[in-house]
Amino acid sequence: MKKIGIMTTGGDCSGLNTVVQRIVDGCARRKWSVLGIQDGTDGLYVNPSKTIKLTDETLQFAQSHLAGSILANGNAGNTNFESSARAGKLSTFNKRLKKSLSDLNLDALILIGGNGSLSLAHLYREIYTGLQLVCIPKTIDMDVPLTDKTIGFDTAVQQLVSYCDQLLMTARSHHRWFVVQTMGRDCGNLALHAGVAIAADAILIPEIKFDTDALVKHIKQSKRDYGIIMVSEGISIRGHSGKPADMISRELTKAGIANRTAFPEYIQRAGDTVATDRILASGFADTALNAIESGETYVMTVLQNGAYKTVSLSDFFAAGKQQKDPNIIGAMTSNAYVEPDNILLHIAADMGIYIGEKKK
Ligand code: F6P
Repeated sequence: MKKIGIMTTGGDCSGLNTVVQRIVDGCARRKWSVLGIQDGTDGLYVNPSKTIKLTDETLQFAQSHLAGSILANGNAGNTNFESSARAGKLSTFNKRLKKSLSDLNLDALILIGGNGSLSLAHLYREIYTGLQLVCIPKTIDMDVPLTDKTIGFDTAVQQLVSYCDQLLMTARSHHRWFVVQTMGRDCGNLALHAGVAIAADAILIPEIKFDTDALVKHIKQSKRDYGIIMVSEGISIRGHSGKPADMISRELTKAGIANRTAFPEYIQRAGDTVATDRILASGFADTALNAIESGETYVMTVLQNGAYKTVSLSDFFAAGKQQKDPNIIGAMTSNAYVEPDNILLHIAADMGIYIGEKKK
């Protein structure tokens, strides 16, 4: 009989409840008990730590496809990684987490997080001494190295597709273009996938340099007088500040192209979990529980070429491009980006979509 902890950390996304439900179900079949840690690492900082016993009753099976996280991901102001790092108190914060985890007496912890949380787990691994740490990657940004998919990504793409489908109806009525700004931080995967899915007229991502004159020419030569220009939030234009979609919109307006901006914002992290995300959640939950059974620790579940497996957190960290963590002073984050040989870039170009000039 094992005692397992689960926590969801970082930005939420759809699919978190599905993966939690699959883990709880898998634990019940193994006769293991499961404790949910609420508010991510914030919930471990407070004394006593915020936990909830997870059973079939806590997370109703029929509701496990809903977005958000039943456990919550935390944002408790003065009691989180970010604020502790800002106050120069990261080591005190880490010691508190370690103490709380040891008080909970867990055999294993399943941490469901994005590249920031996974990088922190690797960098501050001593927090998890004495238990097995198994991580599951989730994020709408799909910027986690070594895995072909992260939980929440496909649902975010679907949310953008549904949003753009509706915009196209009004765009056509007024002969105008919509500049749609997607999330994704400095990774273009979300904009690229959604852009190809809706056959956008242009897709601008941080990984590829673009030229506004070429974009304007491309739109003017379109056979339609309406459509979507998909812009990732991570792009920038020299000499411009403000939101990327507004910058592009101003350039189009200057060139006489009627347009409006649209910001789908947090609906990208919401929406009923799509089937492929539920399959991924099931695969990752199964892989994580098997990893615990076989004694693994400091590992992350991945999907590689159709196969579910685990990789070590140190391999994950080494595989990405390491950048300063935007929120945690002194910490580094390992990131994946859209690579120049990404097949969707070639497909987009063949579809006549403007994707920029040259790879950065
Ligand atoms: O990393 C996920 C993400 O949704 C990014 O795409 C976005 O830039 C960011 O989180 C928004 O974060 P917050 O919830 O802090 O506004």
